[in-house]
Amino acid sequence: MSFSVLGTGMYVPPRVVTNEDISKLVDTNDAWIMQRVGVKQRHISTNETAADMGCKAAIAALENSGVKKEEIDLILTASVSGESISPSVSCMIQNKLGVNCMTMDINAACSAFVFMLETAAGFFARGKVKKILAIGTERLSRIVDWEDRGTCVIFGDGAGAVVLEAGDNYMDAVFHVKGGDNVIDIPQPIGKSPFYEKEQKKPFIHMKGQDTFKFAVNAICHDTKQLLKQNNLTFDDIKYIVPHQANQRIIDFASVMLKVPKEKFYVNIDRFGNTSSASIPIALDEMNRQGMLQKGDLLLLPAFGGGLASAACLLRW
Ligand code: UT7
Repeated sequence: MSFSVLGTGMYVPPRVVTNEDISKLVDTNDAWIMQRVGVKQRHISTNETAADMGCKAAIAALENSGVKKEEIDLILTASVSGESISPSVSCMIQNKLGVNCMTMDINAACSAFVFMLETAAGFFARGKVKKILAIGTERLSRIVDWEDRGTCVIFGDGAGAVVLEAGDNYMDAVFHVKGGDNVIDIPQPIGKSPFYEKEQKKPFIHMKGQDTFKFAVNAICHDTKQLLKQNNLTFDDIKYIVPHQANQRIIDFASVMLKVPKEKFYVNIDRFGNTSSASIPIALDEMNRQGMLQKGDLLLLPAFGGGLASAACLLRW
C-alpha cells in the first residue's frame, strides 16, 4: 500500500521579475540568462512567506481533490526558505489552514518533494493516515544573494501541493545522498556568541555552478535509468518526465544523454525559474489542470540539488 494523487494545487506571488529587471541590479542580460539557464521571468514574493504561499497552494489542491481540510491527517512540507526553524513551515501552514493534525517538515533541498512522497508512502504503509497534504513551498528570494549574478538569475518563489490518499499509484523510488557543503551551501545566520572565533559565510545560497551542473546531469541520468531498470520498464513506457526545474540546459543535456525526446520532459522554468522543492508539484498542477494527465499514465519525477541529494520516483496517475 502506498498512495494515489487525488488533487493538485499551486500558488505563485503576483510580482513578476523579468531578466530586464534583474539586469538593473547586477551585470547580466536576457540573452545570457536565456542561453545558460532558460529563465525568462520568475515570480518573487514582496511580502508573502513560504507558509503563506504553501497554504494557498494547499487550499487549491484541496479544492481540486474535493477533500475537506478536516479530512487531512498529516501535513508534510518541503522547504529551505521558511521564516523560522521553529515553528516549522508545516506548523505555520496548519495554523493558517485552521486544522488540527500532525505536521512535519522535510529538508532535502531541491530533491525534497520526492523524499517527501517516500515519507508519505511510509505513513500510508503503516496505516497511520488516510489523507496527506504534501506541499513544496519556497521563498528563495529571501536567501538569494541579490548581488551574486551567478545565482540570483536562477531562482524564483512559489508553492505546489498534492493531496494524497491510500492507494497503489506511487510505485517506486531511488535516492542518493553525498553529504557535504562544498558545492551548494545555504548557511544559517550565525548569531552573536562572544565565543565564536571564525567569520561565518553570509546566510545566502552559495553555489559552484559548474559542479552543480555536472552533478545534476549525472544524477538525473543515473537515477532515472536505475529506477526504470529495477521496475523492468523503459523510457517508452513513460508518458512524461517531470524533472526538478533547475536549468533548461540540464534538462536538454539529460534528454540527449538518455536519448529521450525533449517533448517527453515537462518544462516551465522559463516562467517560474528554479523554485527548488516547489518546482515538481507546480509542474504537476499545471499538467493536471491543462488535462495533460490521463488515468494510468506513468510519470517519472527526477530531482537533484543541495545535499548533495538526488532522487527519482515512478508515479502512476
Ligand atoms: O537546483 C539546483 C540549483 N542549481 C543549478 O541547477 C545550477 C547549475 N549550474 C548552472 O546552471 C550554471 O553553472 C550557471 C547558470 C550557474 C552558470 O553557467 P556557466 O555556463 O557554468 O557559467 P560560469 O559560471 O562558467 O561563468 C561563465 C561566465 C563567467 O565570466 P568569465 O569569467 O568567463 O568572464 C561568469 O562571470 O559567465 C559569467 N556569468 C554571467 N554573465 C552574465 C555568470 N553569471 C552571469 C550572469 N550574467 N548572470
